Amino acid sequence: MSIIVENSKVLSNLTGTFKHTFADADDTGEIEYYFSPGRINLIGEHTDYNGGYVFPASITIGTTGLACLRKDTKIRLFSENFADMGVIEFDLSESSTKNGESWENYVKGMIVMFQKAGYVIDKGFDLLVSGEIPTASGLSSSASLELLVGVVLDDLFDLKIPRLEMVQLGQKTENEFIGVNSGILDQFAIGFGQVKRAILLDCNTLKYEIVPVELGDYDIVIMNTNKPRALTESKYNERFAETREALRRLQAKLDIKSLGELSNEDFDAHTDLIADETLIKRARHAVYENNRTKVAQKAFVLGDLIKFGELLNASHASLKNDYEVTGLELDTLAETAQKQLGVLGARMTGAGFGGCAIALVAHDNIAAFEKAVGSEYEKVVGYPASFYVAQIGAGATKLDVR
Ligand code: GLA
Repeated sequence: MSIIVENSKVLSNLTGTFKHTFADADDTGEIEYYFSPGRINLIGEHTDYNGGYVFPASITIGTTGLACLRKDTKIRLFSENFADMGVIEFDLSESSTKNGESWENYVKGMIVMFQKAGYVIDKGFDLLVSGEIPTASGLSSSASLELLVGVVLDDLFDLKIPRLEMVQLGQKTENEFIGVNSGILDQFAIGFGQVKRAILLDCNTLKYEIVPVELGDYDIVIMNTNKPRALTESKYNERFAETREALRRLQAKLDIKSLGELSNEDFDAHTDLIADETLIKRARHAVYENNRTKVAQKAFVLGDLIKFGELLNASHASLKNDYEVTGLELDTLAETAQKQLGVLGARMTGAGFGGCAIALVAHDNIAAFEKAVGSEYEKVVGYPASFYVAQIGAGATKLDVR
């Protein structure tokens, strides 16, 4: 499957960069084109690794890749986003060697995971990457890159890998190669995204439902804190460990495999088993947010955006007070947004600590909204936020460029 793109100036510029960058190419054949989106999560935050529901959508902002198979086993990479690093070069046989924090690790991780899964990758390639997703924005630039590499490898080596497996190998790359205990939310949203559709995913069973996004007079506005990279990975792994520990304590009496199996009432009746205030708060978020997500999706499908908006606000409050993953920047954005005229709801999206929040804003109010939230944010935080109206676009795919 591929998406047809005609007369794209951006792609023709990238083609020029590709030819210039890999001038002495030992390439075989044509340059191929790929795109992998970022994602927003409408609701269902920090529920994926707790066996709960998430409700994400892929967005039209993403990562573009140009690739060409080589005759030898050299892999050469260039990212417009890390142009100062120049061309990164290594042999296919060195793919399992991580290099510090370099972006090449996502490419290496995907190659290693594909090979471990039995897929034959026996040649090198040249790959040019150009990403529009701001790093550390919580819109999943890393999963976008993983799935971009997924579709590149699938196509160049004609692997015919099932999409779910590609998504799972993306998550494995994150967990086992990069070292973040993330759930499957990001890779799934990016791998299975569709134009103007959101996905209700049960992370326990991986059953999912595609839901049309019909917002009438409203738009989803993405608000970026522009906070420099925080300690997201280590804090993330800490929350993972805390909810695992709470689960372990509950399992002393309850026959459950994940927090996602509990109703709010069952949870409240058994908090004494956890016996630690912090762990109770963490687990309460996971349980309540999961149940909230199911209610929210129903309201969304019924077109009850007022109810949906209230649940977005409740989600943010829970992430702030119980899960403690928001911080001044996200709280200022979400809570200021919630007070504006024409806003139905607002919350942080993604892992938290920095990154982005989303708001459901009446179309006619967007200009005033951005002005008011933007100036309050700058007053409180000291530097500006950025705003984008989200467009829900397709999942990771090959492009048919004409
Ligand atoms: C990050 C992770 C996801 C998910 C979210 C929080 O984006 O990669 O797996 O846990 O945080 O919902």
